[in-house]
Amino acid sequence: MSESVTIIFEKRDGERIEVAARTGASVMETAVVNNVAGIEAECGGSCICATCHVYCDHVADGVLDEMSPIEDDMLDLAAAERRPSSRLSCQIRVGPALDRAVFVIPEAQF
Ligand code: FES
Repeated sequence: MSESVTIIFEKRDGERIEVAARTGASVMETAVVNNVAGIEAECGGSCICATCHVYCDHVADGVLDEMSPIEDDMLDLAAAERRPSSRLSCQIRVGPALDRAVFVIPEAQF
């Protein structure tokens, strides 16, 4: 039986949305099942669309897995500005260390 943690999405207007996230799911899947606007996830998590882009400024160092070369390349194609904290949320697995982590949704995703 999977456990859950709390993930927080911050919208462009600063509003924060707290949702329950199942461990083992991706941050993108968590956003989609909770109808979080701004995470389009057009490719369904295949790392080929970059419409699940998030900024991870408020995530503690060392919590996220290393970025793969494919994710790195895809982030260059994201519609919104790429920043040092940019990640594709479909490539981030939810685990206990992400409890209360904040993911900021970029200004434009498509
Ligand atoms: S959902 Fe398409 S790259 Fe993440």
